[in-house]
Amino acid sequence: MVQLNAPAYVKNERLKQWVAQIAELTQPDSIYWADGSQEEYDQLCAQMVEAGTLIKLNDAKRKNSYLAWSDPSDVARVEDRTYICSAQKEDAGPTNNWEDPAKMRETLNGLFKGCMKGRTMYVIPFSMGPLGSPIAHIGVEISDSPYVVVNMRTMTRMGKAVFDVLGADGEFVPCVHTVGAPLEPGQKDSRWPCNPDVKYIVHYPETREIWSYGSGYGGNALLGKKCFALRIASTMARDEGWMAEHMLILGVESPKGEKTYVAAAFPSACGKTNFAMLIPPKSFNGWKITTIGDDIAWIKPGKDGKFYAINPEAGFFGVAPGTSEKTNYNALATLKENVIFTNVALTDEGDVWWEGLTKEAPAHLIDWQGKDWTPEDGKAGRKAAHANSRFTAPASQCPSIDAAWEDPAGVPISAFIFGGRRATTVPLVYEAFNWDFGVYLASTLGSETTAAAFGAQGVVRRDPFAMLPFCGYNMGDYFAHWLQMGRTVEHAPRIYCVNWFRQNDKGEFLWPGFGDNMRVLEWIVDRVHGRVGAKETQLGWMPKFEDIDWNGLEFSKDDFDALTKVDAEAWRTEVASHKEWFEKFGDRLPKQLALKRELLELAFQPKAA
Ligand code: OXD
Ligand code: MN
Repeated sequence: MVQLNAPAYVKNERLKQWVAQIAELTQPDSIYWADGSQEEYDQLCAQMVEAGTLIKLNDAKRKNSYLAWSDPSDVARVEDRTYICSAQKEDAGPTNNWEDPAKMRETLNGLFKGCMKGRTMYVIPFSMGPLGSPIAHIGVEISDSPYVVVNMRTMTRMGKAVFDVLGADGEFVPCVHTVGAPLEPGQKDSRWPCNPDVKYIVHYPETREIWSYGSGYGGNALLGKKCFALRIASTMARDEGWMAEHMLILGVESPKGEKTYVAAAFPSACGKTNFAMLIPPKSFNGWKITTIGDDIAWIKPGKDGKFYAINPEAGFFGVAPGTSEKTNYNALATLKENVIFTNVALTDEGDVWWEGLTKEAPAHLIDWQGKDWTPEDGKAGRKAAHANSRFTAPASQCPSIDAAWEDPAGVPISAFIFGGRRATTVPLVYEAFNWDFGVYLASTLGSETTAAAFGAQGVVRRDPFAMLPFCGYNMGDYFAHWLQMGRTVEHAPRIYCVNWFRQNDKGEFLWPGFGDNMRVLEWIVDRVHGRVGAKETQLGWMPKFEDIDWNGLEFSKDDFDALTKVDAEAWRTEVASHKEWFEKFGDRLPKQLALKRELLELAFQPKAA
């Protein structure tokens, strides 16, 4: 039997018993308790360089940074292999894969038996949210991947201090991860150990457990992120009266020093990181955007009747392609040092490159699959970096990080923004008439699919609240929870929808996006504070041309009209498709939403002749 090796400062007996039990099942060579120190990080990285998993980048170009190339089969989240194993199928709902928990445990017990042979089992204590914050929660991940350990150190508050908060009998979410590739004695490890054939990302919401098998990719393996902070946390939030959301949080500071915080949900790879770190156009003298988080928000009602939000993460796991000094200056500044890149290309100088980083590609690269690459290959359609290649970087390095980003109390939220990637139909911005109508709009949010998950790209799919792949329970109940949450606080935030991606007939984007999204944000903030006008439409309140600050941008009224057009015919089709979408939920759909849909359908009826 392998030695438990628990350090003396680990006082939690339940934790020790669980670690011993998992060790017995998975049979690692040894157990290592991560302390989260810099020495440990450096040592694990050096060990991975030695093993070929990481490439050390040129310190003069990118200090203390590394590059990993994954197995080509392991580059994104695997939604068809992701399960919510609630006791009852109906509690997982029609949008999640479900398996009977007893049956799944049997399958996983078989797979996990001896799965860590030849490997070290790491015990990784972490806090989602500032240590000790009343909004934070603790998890412990067991993993046989040192890549997971170092990424978790950047993405969460990881290490020894977590045990002080946990104490002898604190609660934690147990998370078990294996790459699913045991080693025979003397067998050499592959560069990116994973199981190319079998993957399971499993959640047991009732017992709040996570089991992940076969993948090393961030969204499947860094279990604090999507698995805990969204899928498990959303069920905790439902039970305990709070919200765990796929949202960035940003602060808008006006020239007068007024600070307004908003939280915004967009499906994966729709520019959330860019929006969270936005730099206003030059003409917005004195306005500043500050970043609290770029992906996840945990939101609890405060005593003053407002919602307070924290970013449960401590780092960014951002999409690299398309990120440049021009599109996201702050992200690039964040990436100067202490970064782990995954699946981007390597330059001859020992630095990294990805499509969109610079206008011209370097004359020679090694691509994400370790092959030589030249711009000729690019012209032939071969990407140097994978479309879902990522960077893992400490949030503290971001120049726009908000002074309150680690405030245990969180920040008060004044508005929720929901956005998708829609080439047609959906206008630039509109404000819901009220909370319940906002919940309707968010529960019917649609977006064209991207590379962040396996599957066809560019197809519109409903992605309610941008939570479709991340809600740990029946989404019908989730909509009801949202309706309910609006009634628990006196000052419920206003709800907005945005679409930065509308196109004209030629397929050109109608809106410049990026920094110019500040113009929309300013309108939203001014609405929240009751100082700007709007016109009423069937979808809610929309800015008139003169309600937007156009200073520094040539934008014609005609273009604005095209961008904000509410096309009744397109909306009749849209609202009809909402019906189809809602039917999935049967009697778990709140009646409110079905009635709202009917009202909206009537609002778009053609006028009688
Ligand atoms: C992410 C995602 O990685 O949403 O943030 O896929
Ligand atoms: Mn995300």
